[in-house]
Amino acid sequence: MCGIVGYIGTKKASPILVNGLKRLEYRGYDSAGISTMEKDEISLMKDMGRVKNLEELPGINDLEGTIGIAHTRWATHGKPSKENSHPHMDNSKTFSVVHNGIIENYESLREKLKSEGYTFYSDTDTENIPNLIHYYYQKLENEKGIERFLKAVRNACLDLKGSFAIEVICKDFPDNMIVVRKDSPLVIGKADGENYLSSDIPAILSFTRTFYLLDDLDFAVLSRDNVKFYDSDLNPIEKEVKSIEWDAVGADKNGYEDYMLKEIYEQATSTRETVGTRFQGAKTSFDELDFTKEYLSSLTRIYIVACGTAMHAGLAGKIAIEKLSKIPTEVDIASEFRYRDPLVDEKTLCIFLTQSGETADTIAALKLSKAKGAKTLAISNVIGSSITREADLSIYTHAGPEIAVASTKAYTSQVVLMNVLAIHMAEVLENNDQTYLDSLKKDILELPEKVEETLKISESLKDFARKVYQEKDVFYLGRGVDYAIATEGCLKLKEISYIHSESYAGGELKHGTIALIEKGITVIGVLTDKDLIKKSVSNLQEVITRGAKTLIITNQDFDTSAFDVVLTIPETNTFISPVLAVIPLQLFAYYVAKEKGLDVDKPRNLAKSVTVE
Ligand code: G6P
Repeated sequence: MCGIVGYIGTKKASPILVNGLKRLEYRGYDSAGISTMEKDEISLMKDMGRVKNLEELPGINDLEGTIGIAHTRWATHGKPSKENSHPHMDNSKTFSVVHNGIIENYESLREKLKSEGYTFYSDTDTENIPNLIHYYYQKLENEKGIERFLKAVRNACLDLKGSFAIEVICKDFPDNMIVVRKDSPLVIGKADGENYLSSDIPAILSFTRTFYLLDDLDFAVLSRDNVKFYDSDLNPIEKEVKSIEWDAVGADKNGYEDYMLKEIYEQATSTRETVGTRFQGAKTSFDELDFTKEYLSSLTRIYIVACGTAMHAGLAGKIAIEKLSKIPTEVDIASEFRYRDPLVDEKTLCIFLTQSGETADTIAALKLSKAKGAKTLAISNVIGSSITREADLSIYTHAGPEIAVASTKAYTSQVVLMNVLAIHMAEVLENNDQTYLDSLKKDILELPEKVEETLKISESLKDFARKVYQEKDVFYLGRGVDYAIATEGCLKLKEISYIHSESYAGGELKHGTIALIEKGITVIGVLTDKDLIKKSVSNLQEVITRGAKTLIITNQDFDTSAFDVVLTIPETNTFISPVLAVIPLQLFAYYVAKEKGLDVDKPRNLAKSVTVE
């Protein structure tokens, strides 16, 4: 779980690399390092801790090299330490490598290399890679020129099992760099006389807007003004250049104290972007999809598969998709789905929800579904992300770059897009009242304005956060779609404030959780589904009787005198109420974390993108 950057050009590489790493810190931040090509050797500087520590290392500003690779780490194999930080070099110091991913067969490779006389100085899986490259490089001594370097990298990669995005520099080729990826992200930014590399596009968006996207086991040989591509057999291949229209400012904090706060406040814009022009015609348009009435009618089941917040968006999306398409729809956690031999065949549509498009379990679940014959649809926020290149079909949330580890605007955009998709399916199937669908479309189009209103209303929760921030446990309650919302609100608090929190379906309360309710405990109730409000109110009465203090998020008019704090948000269709009702919960979690003085953008032990299992 890491971020990698690279540069090859005419400018000093080290400041470019350090700045790139800072933008990738959301991917990992327990250690960082860089290697640059200096006069007749490869430099190596690395340290534990944030990129800031690396930036302050003595001598880093003296590096003159114009080619370099860099890495910010989130430990998987081997504890955070200087030795385990990247880059890693081979024993002869001919190669330096940064790697994002996991080498599953690292133990057997290490044994093999040890028996060949190699010594290991770290506990990482990565240290195998430069040594393996060196091993093949020695064997290829009769090869001439860059071919030798390329073949050595390729042979080494064919021995690796697992996922990797790798950048390699070699002392013998001071004007080149070789990169390759498999199941881990890596993009190449093309500029005039220079090339940039990164795990994601925003980190290098201020340098270039034109990118090459690598497919699995594509090898790229970079020089300052050229990039040559090869397939896994090392046949030359052509790659299309993609232009990115994102605004570089869009990836910055824009005056907000934290990325998370900025992203929470961006939700009016992001949800508007998600809908885009899809509702402009009489019927919802999804040119990217090929859903016919015949195909949708043939489906026996839809699976929505995802991790974390995206899975919670799936819980909300399921309700709209199942109700409107009338096709049984299930939500599954990707890491469970992939190992339970799910009943998936050509009559199943599998939808994979993922902000980053890089989550290892979600990608693996997609590959499995594809192998079983299902049609696969990826819903991602990142254009050209790994999952979108594996899926049969892809649609994008267009929420803009999300930097804070805790997901906010991606969630609301996912909920919106699944509702738009549900309407599309219903229109293709012609099995719903079009007037009802049109009224839902109208409600979706009114969301941005209501998001603005909800943001303003929710600011009053700062006071409640001040009362709660020192507590040990907080409980969330809801029924139906409100349970889905409660579950996401609960995760937000847990992730960034480190307060233990649990969400539960109102009806489950008496089956265990109520045993934990005692005087003074905070219970947050979400009550937006008018058909279920009475039931939820009686659940809340049960906790009030036991001394709980309550915060209610609702959009309905009913007797709320029993509750301590009531936040009334704008009313909307129940299918899309998560988009509004989650906002006070996001802000509440944010205020609590700030009250505790925590780093909300980079919560401990968490990473933005979980690219390993
Ligand atoms: C990590 C992030 C979460 C995110 C989850 C799924 O755990 O910290 O915020 O919801 O991964 O990520 P994805 O990119 O697949 O939506």
